[in-house]
Amino acid sequence: MRVLSGIQPTGRFHWGNYFGAIRQYIDLQHGNEAYYFIANLHALTTVRDPEILWRNTIEAAIDLLALGLDPDRATLFVQSDVPEVSELCWLLMTGTPLGLLERCHAYKEKKARGLTADAGLFTYPVLMAADILAYDADIVPVGMDQVQHIEVCRDLAGSFNHQFGEVFVLPNAKVLEDSAKVPGTDGEKMSKSYENTIDIFEDAKSMRKKIMRIVTDSRPMEDPKDPDTDPLYQLYCLFADPADREVMAAKYRAGGFGYGEVKKALAEVAEAFFAEFRERRSRLAADPEQVAQILADGSERARRKAQQVLQRAQQACGLKAAT
Ligand code: ADP
Ligand code: TRP
Repeated sequence: MRVLSGIQPTGRFHWGNYFGAIRQYIDLQHGNEAYYFIANLHALTTVRDPEILWRNTIEAAIDLLALGLDPDRATLFVQSDVPEVSELCWLLMTGTPLGLLERCHAYKEKKARGLTADAGLFTYPVLMAADILAYDADIVPVGMDQVQHIEVCRDLAGSFNHQFGEVFVLPNAKVLEDSAKVPGTDGEKMSKSYENTIDIFEDAKSMRKKIMRIVTDSRPMEDPKDPDTDPLYQLYCLFADPADREVMAAKYRAGGFGYGEVKKALAEVAEAFFAEFRERRSRLAADPEQVAQILADGSERARRKAQQVLQRAQQACGLKAAT
């Protein structure tokens, strides 16, 4: 199978990004042809400071490599280093009904908040479709919030194929059910936009501080509690092994303990979980040339594939002579 996903360099990666998306990237690089990219063209719809965008892009690459993305197994590259994608985006744009984009949530939410959206945000799902179709991807690992965009991609590819012949492969989203929606420190979905994140590479002290601030209900300590409705327990489960999860769940049901105890346990498992990645990250950060080389090799491989697909599409719709 061919696997592809992209992640925006809009800030530091958090637990939601790791358990909802990045962990899947790492697993799927085994036994598949995998392409992963840093979606800097998408990030340009929100990050308007050139230094920040550039720094975030490099940091994102370092983070992904530190978390286990292996450049010998997967192709890692920066989205804008493959200009074929932007060209393919235009081909798709010409067949995109406005109504389809009006229903997409990123645009709808911004409009609902009374903000003016630009054409970049409005047409964002078309660029995402081009990202996916350019590499003939079969599987796209993402968090739940991106599933709508993969549906749009299938629609656009399907109607292009219907008009011009079998050009594009129709992809499927792959969502991990147990971590489709990782809660943040306020109990809502963890997201940079809600300022409720705990970052993967946050230093231990500030991570502990944030964990201690996770919202819990105010019932007395003696009361038995339901672990399954508690976001703190949900976070604990992401890190703890099944036996420890059971022990913790039994404590919830029995009552007579405080949330502080769960928070302490969470801080410990989370710290231990990311320790090895943290170490690898410092080594990579000290070797920017190695990272630059990995990205250059990745974009070369990615371009080769995207050029083939673009040519197929151009020939199908009459932009290039058919062979
Ligand atoms: P953010 O909401 O913080 O801006 P992004 O939209 O950049 O995060 O998401 C990057 C990837 O991580 C996407 O595949 C998204 O579905 C996934 N993701 C983000 N937040 C979560 C979460 N809280 N739970 C599960 N997956 C998430
Ligand atoms: N829109 C995705 C996000 O915000 C990032 C992205 C861009 C992407 N292009 C993609 C994800 C192609 C999967 C496939 O998370």
